[in-house]
Amino acid sequence: MEIKDQIAIVTGGASGLGADTVRALAAKGAKVAVLDLNEDLAKTMADEVGGLAVKVDVANADSVAAAMTTVREKLGVARIVINAAGIGIGRKITNRKGPHPLDEFLRVVNVNLTGTFDVCRLASTDMTTLEPVTEDGERGVFVNVASIFGYDGPVGNTAYAASKAGVIGMTLPMARDLAPYGIRVMTIAPGVFDTPLARAETGEEGFNRLLSIIPFPKRAGKPSEFAQMACHIVENSMLNGEVIRLDAGMRMGLIL
Ligand SMILES: NC(=O)c1ccc[n+]([C@@H]2O[C@H](COP(=O)([O-])OP(=O)(O)OC[C@H]3O[C@@H](n4cnc5c(N)ncnc54)[C@H](O)[C@@H]3O)[C@@H](O)[C@H]2O)c1
Repeated sequence: MEIKDQIAIVTGGASGLGADTVRALAAKGAKVAVLDLNEDLAKTMADEVGGLAVKVDVANADSVAAAMTTVREKLGVARIVINAAGIGIGRKITNRKGPHPLDEFLRVVNVNLTGTFDVCRLASTDMTTLEPVTEDGERGVFVNVASIFGYDGPVGNTAYAASKAGVIGMTLPMARDLAPYGIRVMTIAPGVFDTPLARAETGEEGFNRLLSIIPFPKRAGKPSEFAQMACHIVENSMLNGEVIRLDAGMRMGLIL
């Protein structure tokens, strides 16, 4: 699907991978809604690209429903949805302090997995009302964001890995559900990308340790390289129901 003149939603669009995807989609002529918990950063990003900033907590169903209504009323129904909002947590299932707090597990799953599902279910329902835009009958496309931790999570990452494995697991059935409407669903599983989240979660030393186990190129991915992949998925209609590892050949070991 051509990106030009389409309406796009990017959750987590105020920072990191989402922010560069906002820039890339806007550069290709999309009208972009930047949906983020961080309202100030979302406004800055939306101003940069002439887009729309909408505050949302993807873990809160009322907030997601309100944000979708705002986008629909101010821009129209989106054909492109990138779900990049996410949080991390580093914690073992048990340690000397006791069990992994259940509310922390639920918080990560609610943001990363339930939030992604919620945006997909509402946005896809809107998308089905649109006319197709390609000769294949394509109406729209979702790009969800997992992580390589969803496949091989290191120590202290049960909650995050579970949330991302959920995003990986729902890719194919969601694509199958939406196929009759000409809507595609793809997931990107990034390795290490240089963003505020990655650096905050690992610390300087942990970040450098991660880089040392990357085969080639031996560096963190640039958010612009993630954005390039997201745009390619939108533009290449043969990509559907699959998860793409974007990780320079990285495979996680036991520890970070
Ligand atoms: N950076 C990496 O190395 C890496 C690797 C694998 C996966 N990922 C995934 O990529 C996605 C983007 O991460 P990033 O590295 O760009 O992080 P980031 O912290 O730079 O950006 C994440 C954005 O999501 C927003 N957000 C957080 N909770 C939210 C909520 N409840 N509702 C709405 N917005 C919320 C934040 O405000 C922030 O703007 C995440 O899902 C992350 O798990 C990142």
